[in-house]
Amino acid sequence: MKAVITAIAHHVPEGVYDNSWFAQKIDTTDEWIRTRTGITERHFAFEGGLTDIIVPAAEAALQQRGITAEDIDCIIIATVTPDRIFPSSAAILQRKIGAKNAWGFDLAGACSGFLYALVTGAKLIESGAAKKLLLIGADKMSSIIDFEDRATCVLFGDGAGAVILEPGESDDYGVMDHILRMDGNGEVHLHQKAGGSMRPPTIETVTNREHYVYQEGQAVFKAAVKGMADVSYEIMERNHMTADDVTWLVPHQANLRIIDATAERMGLSKEKVMINIDRYGNTTAGTIPICMSELYQTHSVKTGDYLVLSSFGAGYTWGSVLLRWSLEQKEQA
Ligand code: ACO
Repeated sequence: MKAVITAIAHHVPEGVYDNSWFAQKIDTTDEWIRTRTGITERHFAFEGGLTDIIVPAAEAALQQRGITAEDIDCIIIATVTPDRIFPSSAAILQRKIGAKNAWGFDLAGACSGFLYALVTGAKLIESGAAKKLLLIGADKMSSIIDFEDRATCVLFGDGAGAVILEPGESDDYGVMDHILRMDGNGEVHLHQKAGGSMRPPTIETVTNREHYVYQEGQAVFKAAVKGMADVSYEIMERNHMTADDVTWLVPHQANLRIIDATAERMGLSKEKVMINIDRYGNTTAGTIPICMSELYQTHSVKTGDYLVLSSFGAGYTWGSVLLRWSLEQKEQA
């Protein structure tokens, strides 16, 4: 038996910030941001923590499934922007939604966090260790981006996706295959300099703006184009699939040019690629579940469809998951 998605929802903060908002503050233009990244606007919450963004998504998923928080036995939150370093945001969310029968943990896989968590969650379901797992991919990037650094601040947004994972009735649907990779040599190109045990916060680290995302864009771009395209092609090939068999590529939304390169390598036409980077920017662990939730909400996926989920991010971490969809959209009353 495989793990299947039995509910999916998402939430983004109300505040919308378009490219001209940045152009008024820093040396950038709407044209540069749109042509170099594909982003037009993103959502930020300047108050509250990560779990404040997650709660509405989690509650919507529970309601969609027709269960209560007490039915959940495990919570995994993929994020690099937890409410606090400890306790885990999973514990904080458990209290906020009243999931008193759940254990859980946070998982730091950056932009690949949701895929890492999906595979981990699927294995807990397949082994029988969990029966109803609440799986979250979410980040509040506004809490770690330097709004004075034009090379990074325009790229990100805040958002959360929530999925309920359960045992499926057969082996024909759900998480079918995965390829997950990691290369710690990527640390030098993409990291947060201070705040962890290697460099705890001091007045100096704050003054030097070391608590924000540090990214060498071009190095990451080159690695991402190759890494994401490689695994996306490989998962298709080893499952004896051609582009015709893939209904949707659901890629991490970091840069439209990285997405295009991946789709091209897979031989997929643009109509089969889920894109919402224009409206949300890069919500890190949030991108893939938010994309899937929008596909579901717009009746764009049906039982039996094959989705290739692909990501690349800090670590480096990257990977692909082959998912066979089985969640039918309920008819509107
Ligand atoms: N507005 C105007 N100009 C800018 C801006 C901006 N917002 N940002 C950078 N520039 C300038 C640079 O200063 C540079 O100017 P110069 O030529 O005078 O030196 C020029 O634009 C080109 O800069 P590049 O960094 O070479 O631009 P590039 O085309 O590589 O685009 C980008 C930058 C968008 C960051 C791209 O490199 C990228 O997408 N990288 C990968 C991002 C990614 O996938 N990250 C992983 C996930 S994130 C995570 O895991 C947390």
